[in-house]
Amino acid sequence: MHVTHLSLADFRSYARVEVPLEPGVTAFVGPNGQGKTNLVEAVGYLATLGSHRVSSDAPLVRMGAERAIVRAAVAQGDRQQLIELELNPGRANRARINRSSQVKPRDVLGIVRTVLFAPEDLALIKGDPGERRRFLDELITARAPRMAGVRGDYDRVLKQRNTLLKSAALARRHGGRTMDLSTLDIWDQHLARAGAELLAQRLDLIAALRPLTDKAYGQLAPGGGPVGLEYRGSAGEAMARATNREELYGALLEALGEARKNEIERGVTLVGPHRDDLLLKLGELPAKGYASHGESWSYALALRLASYDLLRSEGESPQVPEGGGRRSGEPVLVLDDVFAELDARRRERLAELVAPGEQVLVTAAVEDDVPGALAGRRFAVSGGTVRAETP
Ligand SMILES: Nc1ncnc2c1ncn2[C@@H]1O[C@H](COP(=O)(O)OP(=O)(O)OP(=O)(O)O)[C@@H](O)[C@H]1O
Ligand SMILES: [Mg+2]
Repeated sequence: MHVTHLSLADFRSYARVEVPLEPGVTAFVGPNGQGKTNLVEAVGYLATLGSHRVSSDAPLVRMGAERAIVRAAVAQGDRQQLIELELNPGRANRARINRSSQVKPRDVLGIVRTVLFAPEDLALIKGDPGERRRFLDELITARAPRMAGVRGDYDRVLKQRNTLLKSAALARRHGGRTMDLSTLDIWDQHLARAGAELLAQRLDLIAALRPLTDKAYGQLAPGGGPVGLEYRGSAGEAMARATNREELYGALLEALGEARKNEIERGVTLVGPHRDDLLLKLGELPAKGYASHGESWSYALALRLASYDLLRSEGESPQVPEGGGRRSGEPVLVLDDVFAELDARRRERLAELVAPGEQVLVTAAVEDDVPGALAGRRFAVSGGTVRAETP
């Protein structure tokens, strides 16, 4: 798939901007702080309903404006779709598909798919487990858009269960009434149900990513690696034995049972996908805390390239992963300011690997940072305007 037109109103620094796009490579070039990343951030938002830079929508709305609008025309084969998202911080966002407003923002997921490379990706390797969970869960949702609903259910149940545990912890400390534990049993079941579904998808994803990441790492850093991806689950032993979703459900319930005393003491849910991590190994060592800066960069890029390979192969195949939604073809590749961070060799390697993509959007502060392999259309971005350059 590719985006044929992007239109923004009161999004970030843009009061209004219209950007016609084509398949192939398009680079946005301009000095720092002129709005290059803002453009590709908007494309990423259409794919994930979130920003790769911030965790809430408020900064995405232009200072002084009430709402932001991101609109895009999307081509998938000979099918054209028009999608529109209205961002209303503090209130519900709204969505339209082909001018119909009978849709929820989540219904937009799966129409635009992106794989976005950005300087922030270094946090995949060096950052907290939450960064890696977000990486996994965004990819899960790109593979199977209905997982957005499961993630939403899980978060809601978790919040309610935590509220219950917190009041139990307080009651305990102040010698008040002890809680009726049968209520907690029900929440355990809800949590384990949604949690098992999320876990099953994460495990399936990691199995698919493992060989692709190893291959990509070898291409970016010849002779390096091997890299290994291992899931670190908070449900421990019981989870390691589970081979399907029903068994994962049982494993989560068992682990919740074991953790209950501790949970009531601390007033927070200690078991479930929200406490898990993805262990990234380079050779025998964990990348976090051991890998060099350059190795960490190659690793982060390898994870993104592997994501791209995976989404692309599934986009072409008629085989839909369990619970998968509509097939959307190749994802759009977005490379936000990554070339400036790489040495010449990795720059060329990465450029060669991504150049054949159906649509590749690149940002760079100076033209020289865009590798020769990524010849294509150029836009000059400066002072809130986006101007096509005539070659
Ligand atoms: N909500 C907002 N309202 C108004 N301006 C904003 C908003 N959010 C960000 N900006 C402005 O947008 C500009 C940043 O744009 P962007 O991140 O796209 O820059 P860039 O061209 O990618 O720069 P660099 O080359 O440094 O990465 C900043 O000047 C920032 O102040
Ligand atoms: Mg930028």
